[in-house]
Amino acid sequence: MATPQEPTPEQVSELKAKYTNAAQDQVFTFWDQLSGSEKASLYQQLSGFDPLYINTITAKALAPVADDGKKASLEPLPDSALASILDSKPQDIDRWYEAGLDLIAANKVAVVLMAGGQGTRLGSSAPKGCFDIGLPSHKSLFQIQAERIRKVEQLAAKKAGVSKVTVPWYVMTSGPTRGPTEQFFKENGYFGLQPENVVIFEQGVLPCISNDGKILLEAKGRVAVAPDGNGGIYNALVEAQVLDDMKKRGIEHIHAYCVDNCLVKVADPVFIGFSAELNVDIATKVVRKRNATESVGLIVCKNGKPDVVEYSEIDPDVAAEEDPKQPGVLKFRAANIVNHYYSFRFLESIPEWSKNLPHHVARKKIPYADLQSGETVKPSKPNGIKLEQFVFDVFPLLELSKFASLEVRREDEFSPLKNAAGTGEDDPDTSRRDIMSQGARWLKEAGAIVESSEGVEVPPLTSYAGEGLETSAGKVISDNTVTIS
Ligand code: UD1
Repeated sequence: MATPQEPTPEQVSELKAKYTNAAQDQVFTFWDQLSGSEKASLYQQLSGFDPLYINTITAKALAPVADDGKKASLEPLPDSALASILDSKPQDIDRWYEAGLDLIAANKVAVVLMAGGQGTRLGSSAPKGCFDIGLPSHKSLFQIQAERIRKVEQLAAKKAGVSKVTVPWYVMTSGPTRGPTEQFFKENGYFGLQPENVVIFEQGVLPCISNDGKILLEAKGRVAVAPDGNGGIYNALVEAQVLDDMKKRGIEHIHAYCVDNCLVKVADPVFIGFSAELNVDIATKVVRKRNATESVGLIVCKNGKPDVVEYSEIDPDVAAEEDPKQPGVLKFRAANIVNHYYSFRFLESIPEWSKNLPHHVARKKIPYADLQSGETVKPSKPNGIKLEQFVFDVFPLLELSKFASLEVRREDEFSPLKNAAGTGEDDPDTSRRDIMSQGARWLKEAGAIVESSEGVEVPPLTSYAGEGLETSAGKVISDNTVTIS
């Protein structure tokens, strides 16, 4: 990045006036004490924000919400907007799969990965995608996902009888994760993908705000900032010219997902075929919620529109309600696993609505520069807020007819890595266990006799979703990893 230029006195007074007008001029408290380069970088950082807009979104995020989960009309999605792999006819699933592969073979499908989170709960400072969940191969989450892309390209090319198919992979990072992610991909030769088909881009940041609504400085010459949430994806797709790149490549269908799910079916042909056949603008996969307190968002119908109620925001009584038709079963059970389908035509409309998506408040301990002493203080309790957009807040922009939801099997598609080892839930051990048991299941279904008690790692390049394992029929598998050519 180019070194920022020190601003002229006119430029400084213009910017100061903007911040003074928004009652946010405390950010200039130490201006006269800064060196030339510090002035240049603070000027650049402050020029990137519109303080009045920051005030507006802060006020909106903090205002008591008129239509939160408690008061709004909240219902499960109607059956018309919900299909399920669990009870769909095999011929429907086959048709979606074939159609999806055809679209992939026509180079019309792209994948967007959200990998800008900092993985605080996991307790690792490296980006989550670099994490080794302890498979026999020690593959990272990024490598598993890259190999699934390569395999789906191969399956599509084979079906269409062509030599090469490309599914471009757009990887969204943030300030803290971009550098290490780029380095990891380079060091690992892009896991066998062509570097020009892996586009690493960066989401935006927002300033952190004190409990009394002021933009916080982290040091005398630096504003405290944080990534703008996974909903920052929409602005970033435009700003980083990802949409332009997609357009050039003729992309029409997009699969977006989160980095932490080791079972994610990247560019899943069934999901692509299903969504394209229904001609919807957004579709989402769900699994059945494990219990009332699982930390997952819920796909619902809120005031007649598709929506998600996040686990951090739902009323516990609502979360625990039972389905009147099925006692013992949760009424709201469609758990959001953040696997989204988007039509390209819908993403092209981002500039029309991205500024209107709401911001959510996360109360945090934010290190800040004391405005008297200039010393950076590390608070012991939450002293401010981070503002975040959520990726699913776009759902209510759609009519139900342009939205679909596909229920999938948890054991095949959802095992997120959220917590540190030893937690016993959504941690590296459960990730590893779920991949190994899936491999064993696939092999047994193909007729193999599996003797490995811990399951089997079946590399994605051997099988994407259990296909291609026929030659293992009748074989005894006692190793914990298997490659079948
Ligand atoms: C998320 C979902 C939740 C869902 C759960 C399933 C949101 C807001 N919530 O919750 O409804 O049930 O996953 O596992 O989507 N990320 C960014 N930039 C950011 C923040 C996060 O790219 O600024 C990415 C992370 O890298 C990760 C994903 O978004 O891939 C989800 O982030 P995380 O904070 O782990 O979400 P959850 O709270 O678990």
